[in-house]
Amino acid sequence: MWRSKIALTLLGGTAALTLSTAMAGDAGGKGADRSEMLAVTCAGCHGTDGKSPGPIPALHGLPADYIADAMKAFRDGKRPATVMNRIAKGYSDAEIDKMAEAFAKPGEDDDDE
Ligand code: HEC
Repeated sequence: MWRSKIALTLLGGTAALTLSTAMAGDAGGKGADRSEMLAVTCAGCHGTDGKSPGPIPALHGLPADYIADAMKAFRDGKRPATVMNRIAKGYSDAEIDKMAEAFAKPGEDDDDE
């Protein structure tokens, strides 16, 4: 009995891992434009389309302005953060605006999730 429970738990963990690896692997792939790539970078922590599964705040459904302002505030040290201050450092204003838009309206193309 207990065996099947452990097996199930393991399976669940592996599935989640495989999923995120597959997504990350897709980042450089065919035709993905830069803002989508940026969004995939962030998806590692914030979840697919910013729908965070864990304790990290979800980005999904946040207005582009809000995301962009938050990123710039993190980058400029105006908003306290544990990791986002470091992550945001690498991006220009233009890149931040683009990725904010990518999160604010995810799945523009054919993805109806
Ligand atoms: C290493 C994990 C990690 C990655 C990668 C990451 N974030 Fe975050 N993000 C966090 C955490 C944790 C917070 C909460 C603030 C903090 O402690 O830094 C956060 C907070 C935020 C917030 C504020 C959310 C709110 O509700 O106010 C925004 C916006 C954000 N991240 C955008 C991004 C973007 C855009 C990227 C990709 C460039 C990204 N994050 C990549 C972990 C991550």
